[in-house]
This record gives sequence, C-alpha cells and structure tokens, in this order.
Amino acid sequence: MIKKGIILAGGLGTRMSPLTKTTNKQLLPVYDKPLIYYPLSILMLAGIKEILIIVNKGTTNQFKKILLNGQNFGVKITYAEQDKPRGLPDAFKIGKKFIGKDNISLILGDNFFYGQSLSEKLKRASKLKKGAIIFSYPVKNPSRFGVVTLKGKKIVSLIEKPTNTNSNLAITGLYFFDNSVVKKTLSLKNSKRNELEIIDLLKMYKKNNLLKTEALGRGAAWLDAGTIEDFNQTSLFVSAIEKRQGLKIACLEEIAFLNKWINKNNLREAISFYGNCDYSKYLRGLF
Ligand code: DAU
Repeated sequence: MIKKGIILAGGLGTRMSPLTKTTNKQLLPVYDKPLIYYPLSILMLAGIKEILIIVNKGTTNQFKKILLNGQNFGVKITYAEQDKPRGLPDAFKIGKKFIGKDNISLILGDNFFYGQSLSEKLKRASKLKKGAIIFSYPVKNPSRFGVVTLKGKKIVSLIEKPTNTNSNLAITGLYFFDNSVVKKTLSLKNSKRNELEIIDLLKMYKKNNLLKTEALGRGAAWLDAGTIEDFNQTSLFVSAIEKRQGLKIACLEEIAFLNKWINKNNLREAISFYGNCDYSKYLRGLF
C-alpha cells in the first residue's frame, strides 16, 4: 500500500520565460488555480496523505503561501529544495528520509490528468507491493516524451525522447515504485544531458520483470504543461469542462471533503483563507 507521494516541482521553466522569471511554473495559473493543484489532486485521489513537494532553492515560501502544510485539505505536506535540476530520480535522493522504508509514488509538477475511472486506476496502483507501475497515454508527438513499446501487455522497450519510434505511447509523469527505488537510484549514472534519467530506473525494473504498464486510454486526458502553448491548451480544457459541468477539476478541498479527511468547519476555514472568489463560492456549494 502506498501512503506517500512526492511532487517534483522544481526546474527552471526556461521554455516559458519571461513568465517564469519571477514565478515557478507550477504556481502559474491553469485556468482558475495554480498548476500544482492538479498533480496534488492526483495523489489525493490515490488516497495519499503524506506528501513531499520538491521545489527550487529559495522558493519554499512561495509554495507554502498557497498550500501551507496541507491542513486545509487534510494532508501533510513537507517541502524540500533542489539546488539545481539533476534529473527526476534526484527526487529519491532528496526524499530518502521522507520515504524511509515505505513504497513511494512520484508525480511531476507539470503533469495534468483527467478522465473517467482515473480514481479507481490510481487506487489500484496505490496497492503496489513490489515492482513499479507506469501509465501510458497515446500521443501524436511521442518524440517529446519517454516512450514505451508494447507487444500485447508485455513491455518490449523503453526509450527517452526517441527520434524515431513505432510506438505512440508516451510514459506519463506519474510513477509508483517499491522501496528499492531508493537503492536503485544510487547506482544510476548521469546521461548525455548530464542528468539522472527516470527511464534508466524503469529499465532496471523491466529487467527483473517487475515493471507494469497501465493504459490511460483515449477516453482520458493527459497533458504535460511544459510550454506556454501547453498551458493554454490545458487551461482551455479545464475551462470547457468546468463551465459545462459546473464541477471543478482538482478542487483539493472537495476531494478531501469527499474522502472525509476534512469537515464542514475546515471548508469554512478554507473559504475565509481564499476570500471572496469563485473558488470559495464553489466550496460554499459543497455543504
Ligand atoms: O511529462 C512526462 C515526461 O517527463 C516523461 O515522458 C519523460 O520520460 C520524463 O523524462 C519527463 O520528461 P520532461 O522532459 O518533460 O521532463 P522535465 O525535465 O521537463 O521535467 C518535468 C518536471 O519536473 C518539470 O515540472 C520540472 C521538474 N523537475 C525536473 C528535473 C529534471 C525538477 O523539479 N527537477 C529536476 O531535476
């Protein structure tokens, strides 16, 4: 059972400059809330309550201002800083103490997931005892991502940003690992781009037949908000769904309330924290 999760929310966001000159990418708006709300909501939907957020050096207070220690939405958030981007597996070095003897999930701070039965898939994955689980999603431009090639259900290959590939299945930025990931990370070497690569970790699990792929089918939405265009696309998507349904995507307090992690009083506190805005109006409608 996975009870702990890490959100990797550092990075320089250079592709989004000048927007990212003063604000971390994960704090920029995706329609009506900061980007980080979306990956955080995914961990919460997986039932994960102990969360470590890894941010750039000197930026913890910016994140704390909005997320505090998670008390508004019934989770426990701690923060750690990364002095420079050293690659995704660096999360397991920085988070070693936080992870302890437990299994762990990792989500990238710029990944957006949405779709029917996603919560069930997440809850199932969080039952992981041994090995690792990745989530694949069909994309038109696989060269931008880590790519998995499957033969039936069997994983044939894993390649980071291939120039040519026959597979259109991107590896999304959500991973569930058993505790051996901490030790495995120690044996990783830097890649050509001088970073630790998550794909190398996944290959170690594959080698021992311990890697599973879960498909996020075409009925789901996955976006990696790495560029201004992606941000815009994701915002438009959230806006269209929220306006149509009158329901919010990634309303953290709503997820916590439905999980019975917070009560009506906590919702009232959250409303006074946010002040007079649409988000508060939505929270008022929950009770
Ligand atoms: O989004 C899914 C993709 O994420 C996967 O398909 C790839 O296999 C995986 O390598 C990763 O690729 P990206 O090129 O998108 O990773 P990027 O360097 O953009 O980092 C993703 C997020 O993690 C971003 O919000 C910044 C943060 N980050 C990244 C690194 C390397 C950190 O906080 N620290 C880091 O050291």
